Amino acid sequence: MSIPPSALSAAADRFGTPLYVYDAAELDAALARVRSAFGGARVYYAMKANPNLAILRRLHAAGVGFECVSPGEIARAEHVGATGERLLVNGPAKSEAEYAAGGRLGATFIVDRAEEVALLPAHSRALVRVNPALQVSTHDHLATGAAGSKFGVTLEQAPAVLDALRAAGHEALGLHVHIGSAIRDAGDFTAAFGRLGDLRARTGELRVLDVGGGWGLGADLHGIAREAQATAAAFGAELWVEPGRYLVAQAGTLLTRIVGTKRTGRAFALVDAGMTELLRPMLYGAAHPVTPLWPGEASGLWDIAGPACESGDLLARDVPLPTPGRGDLIAIGEAGAYGAAMSSAYLTRSRPAEVMWEHGDWTVIRRRETPQDVWAAEVEPSGLDAGN
Ligand SMILES: Cc1ncc(COP(=O)(O)O)c(C=O)c1O
Repeated sequence: MSIPPSALSAAADRFGTPLYVYDAAELDAALARVRSAFGGARVYYAMKANPNLAILRRLHAAGVGFECVSPGEIARAEHVGATGERLLVNGPAKSEAEYAAGGRLGATFIVDRAEEVALLPAHSRALVRVNPALQVSTHDHLATGAAGSKFGVTLEQAPAVLDALRAAGHEALGLHVHIGSAIRDAGDFTAAFGRLGDLRARTGELRVLDVGGGWGLGADLHGIAREAQATAAAFGAELWVEPGRYLVAQAGTLLTRIVGTKRTGRAFALVDAGMTELLRPMLYGAAHPVTPLWPGEASGLWDIAGPACESGDLLARDVPLPTPGRGDLIAIGEAGAYGAAMSSAYLTRSRPAEVMWEHGDWTVIRRRETPQDVWAAEVEPSGLDAGN
């Protein structure tokens, strides 16, 4: 992220905190890194990482397609004009609404179980998701390719599901694999692609191999790409990829202000953001880089604690900080993926504003919610006003 600290402070003053800030140049740079590593592979952005319309429009304009896993995500894709070849409809338990919308928009479906062959709209294009039955180096909740996970069909089942698709009049494009998220060890991908490659003798040539996403920020992208390309070539297939986190994580920062401090055996810096704004530390034990935006040498180790009445509401532990004071700003990095996207209105907290930094200026890409936004869909019983 290349936004100057003075611009971050100015944004916090102007838009309030907690605040999500994004660096447009870093969004573009991440896409360029993916394209440089994966050459001509078709890129589908897994919009679950960050579905903000401004980000979708930017990626759509750059020629990227979208991977969607809910009716709402499909609606977002349609809203920004991504249909047909630019749309993948995925998910382990798709609803009727998703089959109907995907069919209407000419999407490619990712089939997650044999039963889906009969549920697809007539003459669909489809990939079969394969579970390579691998233990990978990430948090258990982020692993999707383990033997016991709910995703995909087994390696043994995959050729028969391809055949069943053809027999039912669908276009069986090929295979799909996605082993999880935030995976740094390129060896995990090599192992997964290897298991898929072993299917070649039973599937024959395929048009498409989709290797999903899941690349951790420090992962050897070029190494992963080489393995993916070699596997696709063995099938005679075109390579597709579905990065989420890699495309948006580093562009995003969560700005939060110190509300106060307290010492109870541990030292707490209490801030105005927490699990409702950034759930990943609580959900996955995720470590995000924390940068104090006030001067001084680190004076001790601090836990960064949010305002929720939940003991787990900690954004980070044991962070070296100069002595914090009320109003000081903290920047929580690598927050562009699964940050705002997973924010919630628990405790009737208003989801934060989001702003984009481009050409030396800020643009609001999501206004801060109000409490009234949060309860807007609730229906109050009539005739129960106080005094009635
Ligand atoms: C099928 C599929 N593709 C792509 C992704 C994107 O993963 P990541 O954001 O780790 O790149 C996910 C995320 O879970 C996914 O389930």
